[in-house]
Amino acid sequence: MQTVVIGLQWGDEGKGKIIDYLVKAAGYHTVVRYQGGPNAGHTVRYNGSDLVLRQLPTGVLTCGVKSVMGNGMVIDLGVLVEEKNELGVRGFTLDASRLVISDRAHVILPSHLEMDVWEEKSRTVGTTKKGIGPAYMTKAQRTGVRMCDFASSDLRSKIDLLVERNKFFAGIDLDPAEIFDKQSHWYEIVKSYIADTGHLLRQEIKSGSSVLFESAQGTMLDNDHGTYPYTTSSSPTVGGVMIGTGVPLRHHKVVGIAKAYTTRVGEGPFPTEMKGADGALLRDLGQEFGSVTRRPRRCGWFDAFQVRYAVDVNGADEIILTKLDILSNQQKIWVGTGYMLNGVALESMPASASVLDQVSVSYKKFDGWTTPISRVRKFKDFPDNAKKYVDALERMLDVHISHVSVGKETEEIVTR
Ligand code: GDP
Ligand code: IMO
Ligand code: MG
Repeated sequence: MQTVVIGLQWGDEGKGKIIDYLVKAAGYHTVVRYQGGPNAGHTVRYNGSDLVLRQLPTGVLTCGVKSVMGNGMVIDLGVLVEEKNELGVRGFTLDASRLVISDRAHVILPSHLEMDVWEEKSRTVGTTKKGIGPAYMTKAQRTGVRMCDFASSDLRSKIDLLVERNKFFAGIDLDPAEIFDKQSHWYEIVKSYIADTGHLLRQEIKSGSSVLFESAQGTMLDNDHGTYPYTTSSSPTVGGVMIGTGVPLRHHKVVGIAKAYTTRVGEGPFPTEMKGADGALLRDLGQEFGSVTRRPRRCGWFDAFQVRYAVDVNGADEIILTKLDILSNQQKIWVGTGYMLNGVALESMPASASVLDQVSVSYKKFDGWTTPISRVRKFKDFPDNAKKYVDALERMLDVHISHVSVGKETEEIVTR
């Protein structure tokens, strides 16, 4: 069984919670992150409190599951050591049978972090400033540092070159010797996890292991299919899996995660955004603040036109709808159903962010419900208007909504 779990909006759909649920409920052997890095923040509940995973796959929290950090990731070794220590404090020991890191994954260095801050001064994307864009940039330029480079004698010269380029392009002055020492120190701590993960995964799949591929970010942040240039520098969509792991997908299932409303952090178009008091109310109700950066998330209504696009891009076989509980007590709930430009209905998602900024959205209105739903475990027990809302979204998206998440705890979920 190969399952790909994808965010269908702009990230923070609740992937962490749902992957934790799926891993426990369906008993996957292996969980693989295939792109992104510490820009992600995947929240999982553990012993009654939040645990936010940034680079480690969500599988690390379940005994007997192997977690793999694929070649498509960009990894900050300092953050990784921090995450490992934090898990240690919570009683998890990560030996090499539980965590494997690709020898081909790229490493985020201080030169990338500084460059991310510098780039943001000239073109504002509102990045997480974790060095993601610059690390993928040096990967494409073929000047990046990979995990396997730590075992070779030319690591120092690669760092020298990156530091030299930072100085030339941006006047950023860094000490290559200090970077070399610090990175080498962190590398020693995680060295035992590093392996050829592509080979390992291909062998595991041949021997019948079930694998869940965990995306970070979401479809609308994909650098090709999202709201470019207000995107991240990787491919969170299903196409990123094969490139980011070295595994050919066969007979796989794609599970799309969508929030019952929409959020976005950072700059860029957001057609169904609610500016002002209504958006602020939804932000407070949903506690919509970045899991890592704590930045307030922009909030708006569910956008069926946008999610339908994400379903098509990824070939989603089913959808898990999250945070429906947050919509309780809304008198009216609106859903974006289509985009109009100069009075003409659009058939597909516009390529240009400035065009997307100009579209007007057609909405459908739904009546709300007042009964709390977090304790509900059967779909038939939902208030009628909540059932109508979910049924209507399913019809608009033309994909089965298999589960509805009604709270942050792993077990607060309804199977349909
Ligand atoms: P991810 O990046 O997609 O893993 O999502 P985040 O962890 O950044 O943000 C989702 C937030 O919503 C986290 O605080 C979760 O604990 C919380 N959450 C997830 N599902 C639900 C749900 O169904 N209801 C409520 N109330 N909170 C949820
Ligand atoms: P998870 O995995 C929400 C956004 C940033 C910014 C843009 C580019 O938790 O869903 P980057 O640092 O990647 O160059 O920033 O992408 N962004 C996210 N938004 N959730 C995330 O991850 C995000 N990762 C990046 O806010 O707009
Ligand atoms: Mg998140």
